[in-house]
Amino acid sequence: MDELDNIRAEALAAVAGAATLEALDAARVAALGKKGAISGLMSRLGAMTADERKAAGAALNAVKDEVAAAIAVRKGELDAKALDERLARERVDVTLPVRPERQGRVHPISQVMEEIAAIFAQMGFAVAEGPDIEDDFHNFTALNIPAEHPARQMHDTFYFGEKPDGTRNLLRTHTSPVQIRTMLTEKPPIRIIAPGRTYRCDSDMTHTPMFHQVEGLVIDKATHMGHLKGCLIEFVRSFFEVDDVPVRFRPSFFPFTEPSAEVDIGCSREGGELKIGYAREGAQSENDSGPTPTGKGWLEILGCGMVHPNVLRACGIDPHEYQGFAFGMGVERVAMLKYGIPDLRTFFDSDLRWLEHYGFLPIDVPTLSGGLTR
Ligand code: PHE
Repeated sequence: MDELDNIRAEALAAVAGAATLEALDAARVAALGKKGAISGLMSRLGAMTADERKAAGAALNAVKDEVAAAIAVRKGELDAKALDERLARERVDVTLPVRPERQGRVHPISQVMEEIAAIFAQMGFAVAEGPDIEDDFHNFTALNIPAEHPARQMHDTFYFGEKPDGTRNLLRTHTSPVQIRTMLTEKPPIRIIAPGRTYRCDSDMTHTPMFHQVEGLVIDKATHMGHLKGCLIEFVRSFFEVDDVPVRFRPSFFPFTEPSAEVDIGCSREGGELKIGYAREGAQSENDSGPTPTGKGWLEILGCGMVHPNVLRACGIDPHEYQGFAFGMGVERVAMLKYGIPDLRTFFDSDLRWLEHYGFLPIDVPTLSGGLTR
């Protein structure tokens, strides 16, 4: 049985010497495969006498088992080695700083919309959305702005071409059509905010053809002006993170609300810098119309009012049973005030240096518990 000893020694040496899983598999095939050395000896058993076969068969099986066990052990070693190599190769040092050229920023518009949503979410408002391309009914008629109403001219609307039926689609001039869409599809009580893009054919220092608004709508049986005031004062204080920021409701007009108001916040200018809220000493006069170079004044930040009965009716809601309030604010405007961004047009210049300066880190997700601003 010298031959068997040789085969055994050779096979074990090949297994031990296999440096890769492929080499190990080749060693396995050479020893135990169908045409392998051990199988070759097995095939000779048939020509032996019964006693010889018994002894040789047992010896062969013992070698076969021994080689198979050696292969299993070597395979374990090689698997572990391959894993170690892979781990070393794919090692990531999580303590390294982010590569600056790979570090994106969140645009202040996105950040401020998230902040606004976080505050209203806390008050139980859901987020609703509507299309940028609207029709006359949702953008105007249902909002109590009939065909010849002068408010249509004031909106500087972008119209699309005439359709076969003579109507024209338009780019929504405000987010208020989302109110209509929500009231047409949902049953009160309703409590939503609708952030989104709006468009007006206007471009100068303080107007861009595309800008952003956040709309708010509450409809319920006993909603009144006190709720509107409380809700917006709470919002303004949370958003600007100034507890005692003065808030003023000034009578105004919107076709879709009655009564209507515009909300101003108190601000002061110190050394050319606009500050939300007043310095400690002295209250301001209610007649101030705006921040003077050294003094105190008011800045308008949003429009609001009680939803007009005609609007409720247009949406199939009975104004004798339900009422509610709505508000709308310009996102760029509140973003400029909060973060001291001086020029509206820079929001849409896509200047990376500007974004680097005014943008936010992606991990700074605004939450009320963690802080809106970091
Ligand atoms: N839609 C109004 C605008 O764009 C804002 C507004 C919304 C006013 C809701 C009152 C109520 O000017």
